[in-house]
Amino acid sequence: MKIIAIANQKGGVGKTTTAINLGYCLALANKNTLLIDLDPQANATSGLGIAQDKFYGTYQVLLEGIIKSESIKQSTHCPGLFVVPGSPLVASLEQRLTTGHLSSQRLKGAIASVSNTYDFVLMDCPPSFGGIPVNALTAANSVIIPIQCEYFAMEGLSQIVRIINKVKTEANPGLFIDGILLTMYDNSLQYNKEVVEEIRRHFGSADASGQTKVYKTIIPRDVAVSEASSFGKPVLEYDITSRGAIGYIELGREILGYN
Ligand SMILES: Nc1ncnc2c1ncn2[C@@H]1O[C@H](COP(=O)(O)OP(=O)(O)OP(=O)(O)O)[C@@H](O)[C@H]1O
Ligand SMILES: [Mg+2]
Repeated sequence: MKIIAIANQKGGVGKTTTAINLGYCLALANKNTLLIDLDPQANATSGLGIAQDKFYGTYQVLLEGIIKSESIKQSTHCPGLFVVPGSPLVASLEQRLTTGHLSSQRLKGAIASVSNTYDFVLMDCPPSFGGIPVNALTAANSVIIPIQCEYFAMEGLSQIVRIINKVKTEANPGLFIDGILLTMYDNSLQYNKEVVEEIRRHFGSADASGQTKVYKTIIPRDVAVSEASSFGKPVLEYDITSRGAIGYIELGREILGYN
């Protein structure tokens, strides 16, 4: 089982879109996939056509440290994709997770309880540095960091990398960055190209020896992606021929090592 946190403290960079569409791709590739919606906004939950679950979803999982079958719902859009739904109530746990009243190992223990059932566990993190993302990083084998192709992307990146290294040192020595994912790329904008070059220069390209740091796949900006979310669907279901959908299929293939 691979446990992947999708994290960036910066808001609106494509975390949830990546969680939903990558989850969808992995499930299409016959990988049993569980998406845990850790964000009190619960966008991943609604984006997969599932109702928020005030008590029995992520809230219960974090509180009890176990994933019970009642916490797991099937995506209405993809039969092989399962979801632990989020709800605004999850925010009420943030402080207890941060101050240590609930352990930073909570999620790790909970995920261990389903380790025989899933090939992939994806965790959609909220845009913060608090106890919830730290719990996710403590439970994860690796991290996907989506970043928007914007000028200030680099600045935010060094912060998240610092947090990842801190969790790695203190709690999770095996943790690594699976890759930085460039999102919302517009090839008509010169500065988007410059940002891609800068990120690749700084972190190394996918072809560099050793660990992959920046995915070869770049997700294009595509209006179909935002349209799909307004219909509560992954773009892969909304329009599989769209550039956004094709981008996520490529990402899925890259992560599965099919490329
Ligand atoms: N490739 C894309 N092309 C066009 N729009 C996109 C793309 N990816 C994401 N969006 C849109 O950008 C907005 C932010 O995306 P998303 O919700 O995935 O980001 P996030 O990082 O999860 O945000 P938050 O930090 O608030 O949780 C959404 O409205 C989404 O539909
Ligand atoms: Mg989100």
